[in-house]
Amino acid sequence: MKQPAATVADPALIAAAAAILEEGGLVAFPTETVYGLGADAENPAAVARIYDAKGRPHDHPVIVHVAPGADLDYWTTEVPEAARKLAQAFWPGPLTLILKRHPNIPDAVSAGQDSVGVRCPSHPVAIALLQAFKGGKGGVAAPSANKFGNVSPTTAQHVRDEFGMDAHDDGALNGGEACSASALAMVLEGGSSEVGIESTIVDMSRLATHGPVLLRPGHISAQQIADVIGMLPAAPDQAAPRASGTLESHYAPRTPVAMATAAALADTLPQLHAKGVKVALIGHALPAALTAHAHAQRVLLADPAGYAYGLYAALRDMDQTGSGLILVETPPQGADWLGVNDRLRRSVFGSAGIIASLLQH
Ligand code: TXA
Ligand code: MG
Repeated sequence: MKQPAATVADPALIAAAAAILEEGGLVAFPTETVYGLGADAENPAAVARIYDAKGRPHDHPVIVHVAPGADLDYWTTEVPEAARKLAQAFWPGPLTLILKRHPNIPDAVSAGQDSVGVRCPSHPVAIALLQAFKGGKGGVAAPSANKFGNVSPTTAQHVRDEFGMDAHDDGALNGGEACSASALAMVLEGGSSEVGIESTIVDMSRLATHGPVLLRPGHISAQQIADVIGMLPAAPDQAAPRASGTLESHYAPRTPVAMATAAALADTLPQLHAKGVKVALIGHALPAALTAHAHAQRVLLADPAGYAYGLYAALRDMDQTGSGLILVETPPQGADWLGVNDRLRRSVFGSAGIIASLLQH
């Protein structure tokens, strides 16, 4: 976590955003993980607008964001003691708890499942919005504010880029006027997201039979969770995938992405260069000799939190360089790097064999 999350929330903008949500509109807002595309979780028509705006399949449930101190019993029918401990230890923060769904949650939010994901984010602008919306008693359903399958946004500009908004259309810059060109009425400004990758998701909804299950690794590690509840969350049972949405197709830029170890890069990069392939490099320890063969490059910090902070902006920026390939130096593989490696594995999805095929032509 590198940069202080910018900004104190502007009360007038927060009030305007809360009013848009209360009227069933969409507001993008910063969180400490990534920017979210929010709607009133109790308004199925508003939630449907999220799916339309993202182009997201309807079987992918969305997370409900709540204010600090929110009444979990309003959103869920059963909160195991261990789940309460996790909420107490990590909220506000980058942890999503999957719990048994209360009838107050419409089908549209949970994609018809009997569970719901709940999270209290720590970004001050998100907290201000959640406290203003319905007097702090509401829930804001919000996936990441990107088109389905794209890289999640970690700045307000990324959100505007995703939804084709001009800065002058943007409520964040013009005092909260709605943008007519998009279902997305307003983007709240909040600097660069400090964590940079999506929240850790732990399924606490079937504790008695399955124990805690880590559905998505993130900044909060399985070990940190175990330290609080005395149970290490298991990896999801691949044989019986439960939430269709937990394995999103990919978090990918338009340019193909491949990974290679520093040693493999030393071999491959000059060959690609010789073939005239423009390569954008992302690494954490790139040897200087290699970068001569790169068309563009971004060096990320060599610790997992610093790397995660810069990763999505690096993927987006390298996607804009006119390169034929984004090559990522394989990061370390330790437990602390699980979240980063999970997201990278998804962004290379579909690019298998790309290096060999570029070298053939
Ligand atoms: O950090 C985050 O979690 C961000 C910020 C905006 O809070 N949100 C986010 O939302 O990443 P989204 O929709 O991009 O990813 C949510 C993930 C999806 O993979 C979805 O399938 C899973 O959470 N999910 C939501 N509700 C679930 C449920 N009831 N059971 C299992 N998985 C669920
Ligand atoms: Mg997402």
